[in-house]
Amino acid sequence: MTSIDPLQLDAQDPLAWARQEFEIPLQGDSGGHGMSLSSLPPSHPSQTQLDQANKSGHGLHVLRSWLLTGDGQVVYLCGNSLGLLPKKARELMIQEIDVWSKRAVYGHFAHPHDRPWKNIDDTVVPGLAKVVATLSPQQIDNAVVALEPREGEDTLRTEDILARIEEYGDEGAYFGLDLAHAVGNVPLELSAWGVDFAAWCTYKYLNSGPGAVAGYYIKEGLDDGGRRSRLPYLFSRATIRLAGWWGQNRTTRFLMSPEFDPIPGAQGYQHSNPPVFSSIPLIAHLELLERAGGMQVLRRKSEALTGYLWDLLERSRFHVPPAGGEATTTGRIGFRILTPSTPSERGCQLSLLILPAGSHTMERVFNHMVQRGVVGDERRPDVIRLSPVPLYNRFVDVQVAVRVFEESLQAVLDEGDV
Ligand SMILES: Cc1ncc(COP(=O)(O)O)c(C=O)c1O
Repeated sequence: MTSIDPLQLDAQDPLAWARQEFEIPLQGDSGGHGMSLSSLPPSHPSQTQLDQANKSGHGLHVLRSWLLTGDGQVVYLCGNSLGLLPKKARELMIQEIDVWSKRAVYGHFAHPHDRPWKNIDDTVVPGLAKVVATLSPQQIDNAVVALEPREGEDTLRTEDILARIEEYGDEGAYFGLDLAHAVGNVPLELSAWGVDFAAWCTYKYLNSGPGAVAGYYIKEGLDDGGRRSRLPYLFSRATIRLAGWWGQNRTTRFLMSPEFDPIPGAQGYQHSNPPVFSSIPLIAHLELLERAGGMQVLRRKSEALTGYLWDLLERSRFHVPPAGGEATTTGRIGFRILTPSTPSERGCQLSLLILPAGSHTMERVFNHMVQRGVVGDERRPDVIRLSPVPLYNRFVDVQVAVRVFEESLQAVLDEGDV
């Protein structure tokens, strides 16, 4: 796959249109060269300019200067941390600001765009339910079964997770998932898989913006609204919920009666009305996802994009193959890929262990990358994470990012002191 021209792959990409739906930060604004608060509209080379540059034989060189200098956009491989702003979210946010200005409290009930704030969750729940393939959503016992990778391995094996579920499921343990890195990244079928409960943030692969509203799921029928907890715990195995006003039956919520009539399932855990401004970008993303053809379409491109990243990295002169723990003690500057090599066992992201481990090389490499306009994220002490996202990343972003990563490793090597 590495012999294929990434510009050609981008030209054939059926999802290429989606990138135009996002605001890609400019290097000058992004904080890579010091913080600037200006927010200029993005400008980027047109497809014709890219084609011309490519034909002239120095496509990558020209492209890199566009991407990485002047008003070029950053190469953003950081959707695993914070997804980019959909242009539609800006439009919808302005609409909401106008509704606030013009209608104030009536925005809760009479909304000109059919998104009454009182029921803002209704606007996002159907789309989100499609992303995680659920019908609706329980609480866990306070016992947690901890799992660790096998000796000398970096990640949990699926077979070990399944064996543990078998072992403890019969004893009545609940199976829950933290989907922060999975939702919007890989197709999920929580109902079909029999998952008991799950929780996730929405600002990574669902592009809802920093600290935006979270989501959670409880298996149909598992939660009865806390009614059983009125029986003595030992007899009921009931879950105890921290209930709030918004967990009250919708039809009686505003009667303010002393009687609490809890909604069974996930919706019954809402404390108050959901934050409208953080739900709005989520609506924009879910619309975009629908237009793109759903999670399976995204996943197809994602496998190709991350596969391309894998291939380029594996061929790098700095790549150290997985050979137990030995690679971390060689003292040589390089990297090892921690993420599983099998596409079905991973999502967008590849996690790179920078070697030698424990030497602060990672921070130095990361800083060089930031200064060259490539945005990934770091997990101390030694890991850099890169995530090409199918909606807004191109194959050429991956190519540039790997070049810059290698240049950054070389720069640290040249500086010495490792
Ligand atoms: C629910 C949840 N789980 C886990 C994480 C950890 O994510 P990260 O691996 O980026 O630190 C986050 C952070 O965003 C989160 O919201």
